[in-house]
Amino acid sequence: MTESEDDSDAGESLGYSESAVTSDDSDTAAASDTAESSDTTESSDTAAASDTAESSDTSPQERRTREVQRRLRERGDGAVVLFPSHNMAYTTGFTEEPGERHLLAFLPAVGEPVFLVPALSGEQVRRATWIDDVRTWDDEADPAERVAAIVEELDLDGGRLLVDDTMHARFTHDLRAAAPDATFGLASEVLSQLRVRKDDAEIDALRRAGAVADEVIAELRATGETVVGQTEAELAAEIERKLAAHGGTGVSFEVIVGSGPNGAMPHHTHGDREIRAGEPVVLDFGTRVDGYPSDQTRTVVFGGEPDEQVRAVHDVVRRAQQAGVAAVEPGVTAADADEAARSVIEDAGYGEAFVHRTGHGVGLDVHEEPYIVAGNDRELEPGMVFSVEPGVYLDGEFGVRIEDLVVVTEDGCERLNHSDRGLVAIE
Ligand code: CO
Repeated sequence: MTESEDDSDAGESLGYSESAVTSDDSDTAAASDTAESSDTTESSDTAAASDTAESSDTSPQERRTREVQRRLRERGDGAVVLFPSHNMAYTTGFTEEPGERHLLAFLPAVGEPVFLVPALSGEQVRRATWIDDVRTWDDEADPAERVAAIVEELDLDGGRLLVDDTMHARFTHDLRAAAPDATFGLASEVLSQLRVRKDDAEIDALRRAGAVADEVIAELRATGETVVGQTEAELAAEIERKLAAHGGTGVSFEVIVGSGPNGAMPHHTHGDREIRAGEPVVLDFGTRVDGYPSDQTRTVVFGGEPDEQVRAVHDVVRRAQQAGVAAVEPGVTAADADEAARSVIEDAGYGEAFVHRTGHGVGLDVHEEPYIVAGNDRELEPGMVFSVEPGVYLDGEFGVRIEDLVVVTEDGCERLNHSDRGLVAIE
């Protein structure tokens, strides 16, 4: 659902989940939208049911792999070969840091995928993946020989192999040696088009990650002026604890607590400056749920009275963010969505102070396609997820940024963050 913060009527529910319906957006103007869409509460059941019908024993990872294979056949390519990466997690379900041992997943255009993994990871991989054919190699063995055997068995030499974009050169080298007549491309040629449109399982995880961020910022607001006098680092540590307490895993990126003039630096993380009464604090953080991150920003005054300029700038940014969200629907370009937010800030005379693009795609990577930026003529499509996060940064004074993630629906978008966007912690 596009719950509109102010007066927008853009979009309706995709019907992914009931959580969107319980949006507690603090703005009363959203009430009509919320009421209107309350009849979508059946949606999570429906979504679950259709998932089940489609594939009673097929995991999302297997469905994605089958689609990769279909696209490979369509393109006439031979296989995608992955090593530990988000592409591997996306298609196989197995997550691991890249290492020096050969750990490769072969997704051939035709036939069944093959995993080649170090013996010490065998059990871990088998538990994590839907792929049946998991072959292990011992530390005494020569893994390059095993690679060559799989290449021969799958008949990959002479074809085109799409290797993981971040694969270490030593593994690519072994593949080249094993398939001297093959040509090579990048896995992203097939996978980025798939990954840019999130499926139900991904949107569900992103929504839950967003809900954790919502809960944490709501708790912080409720503590009000007790935050005054804490350092940015203390507050950041508190945010990390709360994210974990609400079920998140780690942080999506280093927590940003930009108080007063520090808020004017968009990528300031946190330091030992003490938060003062009356000043805005930029709070930008997220956590992961089932591997998917949240990324939300609010700018909050915790105690005392903000001055007129702070109020005015916050109002401009909030209207810009609303305009950006309202502009999002299929067929609109990323550049148009950027312009919708940017023009509000420019019209208010702060164009020079909005020093970054309006947003970035979010999936397994916190920054991925699509980028919501001038010049990007890519059209938005249902299932795309990205941030809408305009900001105004006044050097030496303060900064304001407001950010929600949105998922593009069939006819608009749905926010994945619903917490209060107001300036003052406790109104
Ligand atoms: Co962001």
